[in-house]
Amino acid sequence: MPSTESEPPSGNIMEQIVSLAKRRGFVYQASEIYGGIRGFWDYGPLGVLLKNNIRDHWWRAMVECPPVGPDGSPIDMVGLDSAIIQHPNVWKASGHVDNFNDPMVDCRETKARYRADHLWTAAAQVRRKNGNVETLGVFSVLSGDDAGDLFVKRVDKIARKTGGGEVVAPTDFVPFTKLSPAEMAEVVGPDAAQKGTLTEPRPFNMMMISYNGPLQDEDNKVYLRPETAQGIFTNYKNVLDTTRVRVPFGIAQIGKSYRNEVTPRNFIFRSREFEQMEMEFFCPPDQSILWYEFWRDERMKWWKSLGIRADNLKFRDHDDDELAHYSKACVDIEYKYPFTSPDFGELEGIAHRGCFDLTQHQQHSSQKLDYFDQELQLKLKESGASPEDVKAKSRYIPNVIEPASGLTRAVLVLLCEAYRCESRSGVEKFEYFAFKPQLAPIKAGIFPLVNKDGMPEIAQKLYMDLRQQFTCEYDPKQSIGKRYARMDEIGTPFSITVDGQTKDDQSVTIRHRDSQLQERVALEKVSTFLTEKLKA
Ligand code: GAP
Repeated sequence: MPSTESEPPSGNIMEQIVSLAKRRGFVYQASEIYGGIRGFWDYGPLGVLLKNNIRDHWWRAMVECPPVGPDGSPIDMVGLDSAIIQHPNVWKASGHVDNFNDPMVDCRETKARYRADHLWTAAAQVRRKNGNVETLGVFSVLSGDDAGDLFVKRVDKIARKTGGGEVVAPTDFVPFTKLSPAEMAEVVGPDAAQKGTLTEPRPFNMMMISYNGPLQDEDNKVYLRPETAQGIFTNYKNVLDTTRVRVPFGIAQIGKSYRNEVTPRNFIFRSREFEQMEMEFFCPPDQSILWYEFWRDERMKWWKSLGIRADNLKFRDHDDDELAHYSKACVDIEYKYPFTSPDFGELEGIAHRGCFDLTQHQQHSSQKLDYFDQELQLKLKESGASPEDVKAKSRYIPNVIEPASGLTRAVLVLLCEAYRCESRSGVEKFEYFAFKPQLAPIKAGIFPLVNKDGMPEIAQKLYMDLRQQFTCEYDPKQSIGKRYARMDEIGTPFSITVDGQTKDDQSVTIRHRDSQLQERVALEKVSTFLTEKLKA
């Protein structure tokens, strides 16, 4: 039984990360004072800084300073910020209205709704005291690490009520989706008492609906975008017509997306509102594999540049039967999340989308979205191609390579990757985040050792200077040990202390979060020190 995306067992590392992230103001449950709202999260004072740092790092690496292309030339890349709500026909053309569905199973008895691919079934068998094995029925359970245990516990409870005996742990679970309708009718739902209350899987569209204008009727129905990508395709022609970019080039966008996920879970891994970082790279069809491989490698390099350990990341190539009919290839970059470990879960997808999206929008909008490749035309002419060949080949609908990742999922990955629990500061299990300095929400804490003898004045001046360039915090309260510990917890890489010696020799101590070692640095060199340390 697959255990990916299972709920973390209690007391595990994921619970500790979620708890530290909440305690220190990274991520809160949305509408918490009203009991929360499932699938929505708020990013607190430190969470928003961390998220913005990842966002800016991506934007810099993709838009402002994209990698050098496979031929050694700089890549053309521009940014975009399209509307969350678009014309409903965009989602008809993209296929989201008809195909963006999760097959769902409803339970008529409990009114619960399950994702069909999360339901697993097995025969519930008990060895009675006389040695006979009795089958109590076919029960279903939701996939997860603890699914087997839950199944056995449930059967045990029923066995006790019906004469006792020892539960025979199932050796094999069968996916609900693989059962025939007659077999489905025999299954007892995960929360039901009766058999036959589960419906056959039915499609459930995941787009969130709203209304455009005062009339809330079918004609005014609109969708909150389920991905940022379509806003890029619908602006492809605008960008070509209004900027100097030529194929091959990319358009990148970061923004919120919404999906009515049936089972939002694992903290911010799968939520109903989330942020994406997507780029559509438009290229000539005959260069598409070259660019696909290029972006596959570049994206993996980027994740490693965030300080993520190589053995926590891996590629997963999609099998042929997973690929959409128009796609030549697709690969996921996966991360070893605490709740998937030792397995991995999706972090980013890099898809070869062929000419599918632009062709669809061309058909549905009746606007020409092909591209005339003047350079290629010249090359073909020079190579002696026939006029027919030149005409046919130099006008085409570009192919698209799409690296698509989640910004909020990246926040989760960094929280998991940076989480440490070790003995330090006199505490046996001291928890802190060891973020890469460049991505840390706060770069430096600035403290007067004591609140007298001119130290606060010097420390405050240093803080006022440094905050022009770096996100810093000034903290004059509590013992210095407590202040260091607080900075460690939130992942601040440097703690700068003005002490008794500062007045004499104009130097401060700088304490490093990870090693806890301290060094003396001249006051006037602190800014250069931080600049050096915060380089990529
Ligand atoms: N345009 C292609 C696209 O949207 P996707 O695989 O559905 O592809 C891309 O989404 C990325 O967006 C995923 O790899 C994941 O990081 C993030 N993502 C998707 N659904 C999400 C959700 N419900 N919550 C958080 N992140 C999500």
